Formats: sequence, structure tokens, C-alpha cells
Amino acid sequence: MGPSTHHRAGAARCQNAEMTDLETGAVSELEGAFGSGTPAASGLAPGRITLLGEHVDYVGGRVACMAIDLTLAVAVRPSADGRWRVVSEGHRVERDGPWMARDIGDRVFAAASALGRFGVVLPPLDIGVASRVPRSSGLSSSAALMTASLVAMLRLAGAHLSSDDLVAAALIGEREIVGVPCGDLDPLAVVHSRSGCVLLLDCATGSRETRGWPWPEIGVVVASSGERHDVQGGEYRARRELAERACAALGATGCQEIGDRWRELPAELRAAGRHIATETRRTDAAIAALEAGDPHRLGVLVNESHESLRTDYRISTERLDAMTVSARRVPGCYGARLVGGGFGGSALALVDRSAADACAAAMAAAAIPDAGTWLIEPSAGVAVLAPDVVTSPT
Ligand code: GLA
Repeated sequence: MGPSTHHRAGAARCQNAEMTDLETGAVSELEGAFGSGTPAASGLAPGRITLLGEHVDYVGGRVACMAIDLTLAVAVRPSADGRWRVVSEGHRVERDGPWMARDIGDRVFAAASALGRFGVVLPPLDIGVASRVPRSSGLSSSAALMTASLVAMLRLAGAHLSSDDLVAAALIGEREIVGVPCGDLDPLAVVHSRSGCVLLLDCATGSRETRGWPWPEIGVVVASSGERHDVQGGEYRARRELAERACAALGATGCQEIGDRWRELPAELRAAGRHIATETRRTDAAIAALEAGDPHRLGVLVNESHESLRTDYRISTERLDAMTVSARRVPGCYGARLVGGGFGGSALALVDRSAADACAAAMAAAAIPDAGTWLIEPSAGVAVLAPDVVTSPT
């Protein structure tokens, strides 16, 4: 069972007041590494899963996703000597500016630089990170780190952003400053999710809706494969380029316009074209299954998504395949698939809560002995968690 975070939404959040345990942990990490000093401000952000709609966000597809109750906290304070420092899980980095160096400092420093584009100028900072979102596990620890950093820095600066600008800042940080060619999905899920709900994103129009999770007796188990997933790696970029070329070859502005015309694509683009065209339709079918309260149908779609990602998009691994096969054999499991960018990371299973432990054990047995497993809950995003610095459209 994933740990829950209890957040007093709407409470004053300046300096150390009203922090969650994890935020207090980030402050302790900071002070343990760099000594006590000016009180720190903190921010908290969740990881996310994609229920359906994997690898379609960057070609205008539709995605069903949710924030999860695995969170990450960042604490920030002005540094005493003009240096920029980060500590995370005991690893420290230090430099004379918020530069990129392909290390654990990059995303937090990128958050500071991105805020500059919105007129929020920060002094050199000491920063501490405490996380329950496993890294490189396809659960968007990167967007959680970027977004929690943004929130902590807004609090420190006494500034605020709209929820849309927060997403924009996270994307500037990730794409332009860190240099990862990701889509919109991760910060949108991390910012806009609602507790107990599935968030539906249309990446062509930017529209978003929520649907309540309809089954109290059914949950989602996530298990880490132990294989590192890395969106910065070339394979993610290569898939994105194939998808964009498939759309362009058909004169489509995005995958929702492709329909069955993937069949007309040249051989080298056909499989990628079929994935993005069928996956965005599976998202729509998943929404219908949620609305109809039909977990069996949703499970079939989850399985089909994995098969499409495995054979057409070729982003699965033998271990992720084995984990999904093992999960599906457990009575009470409706479907299983890899989650996130692929090439490692995690798998998820839609399962009766009464069978969650058995399903988690089966997935872990197909992964590594100490694989992390969690029965996750659809959770609130940062727009709900941090109303003092993130304003939402009314
Ligand atoms: C990563 C990216 C997202 C999305 C997913 C796959 O998480 O950051 O933008 O493309 O992979 O759905």
C-alpha cells in the first residue's frame, strides 16, 4: 500500500508551518547536509500513472491518467555564500550558478531558471529533496521534482503562478533547460489531478476533464521492474520522431486524425502509426468503460495497450512483459501493462483490492527480489495541494 500524504489544503505555508512529514524530511536533509540557517520553504508534488494513452501526448492524443499517493518534497532557502547546492538521498552537488551538469541538481536548478521567465527571480539556493517516488521508474519522478521545486521556490519568493503557468514553467524547465523532449502529460497530471479521479487530457485541444474512479473494490497495483527508464535516452526521442513523421506523412496534425489511415503509411512508419492511432482510440474506449463501470472492458484495453507498446512501438522489455503476464494470471486481475516511457520502469495492474497483495507478489517475482510494489490511490495534484501559490482558473 502506498503511503498517504495528508495535506491541509488552504493552510498558510510560509517557512516551516503546516508541512507534511515528507517536506519536514526534505528540510532535515537540507539542514543535515548544509547546516541550519534561514528557515526553508517547501513544496510537495505527486508522481503519476497513465491508465491509457501511452506515448500519444506529444502527437496530440488523448490520455487517461492520475496523480498517485507517492510524493516528493523539496525544501529551499537562500544560501549564505552565493553558491547553489542540492542534496538528495545523501548525494550532494554544488556550483556557482544554476547550470546544467547532468546530475541531480539539474531539475531543481532548471526550475529556478524557468521561474525567471515568469518574473520570479531567486537568490542562490540551498535545496534538499526527500522522495517516495522511485526514480527512473516511469512514475514521473522528474515532473514531481520539477514541480515541487517550483512550488517551494514560489513560496520562498512570496510569488504565485496560475496552474497553467506552473505547467508551462515545468515544461520550459524540462524541455528547454534540461533538454528532455517530453510531451505535456507528466506536468499536466502532476498539477491538475483530483483526488479519487481519473484525469482525461486531450493534448490536441488542451482540454481536460475528470471522471470519478467508479470502483471502490478495485485498485491499481504498480510494481517497479528494477530496470531504469530514461526519457533523456535516445530511444524515447526516436519513437517521438517516428510518431511525428507518421502524422506528417498522412498530412495529419495529430494522431486523432489518423483513424485507419495508418495502413497507408510506408513500411518503416506503419507500426508506429498504428500504435498512436489505436492508442488514442483505446483511451476513448477506456473512458467509456469507466463511465459504464465495466472493469473487464477496461482490463482488455489495458492489455491491448501493452501489446501495442510491445509489438508496434517496441518500448517494452522482457521483464516488463513477464511482469504483465504474471499479473494477468492472478485471479482478480483485469489487465496489466507497462506504464510511462518504457524501456524499463514499472508495470501496473488493474486488480480487485482483495487480490492486490497476490498480484503485487506475482509482479515482483517476475522482476527482482526487492522490487517496489504499491497499491496506489488516485490523488490530488499540485493545484489542489498548493492553493496558496498556484491559482486555478475559476
Ligand atoms: C514520458 C514522457 C511523457 C509521455 C510518456 C509516455 O513520461 O515524459 O511526456 O510521453 O513518457 O506516455
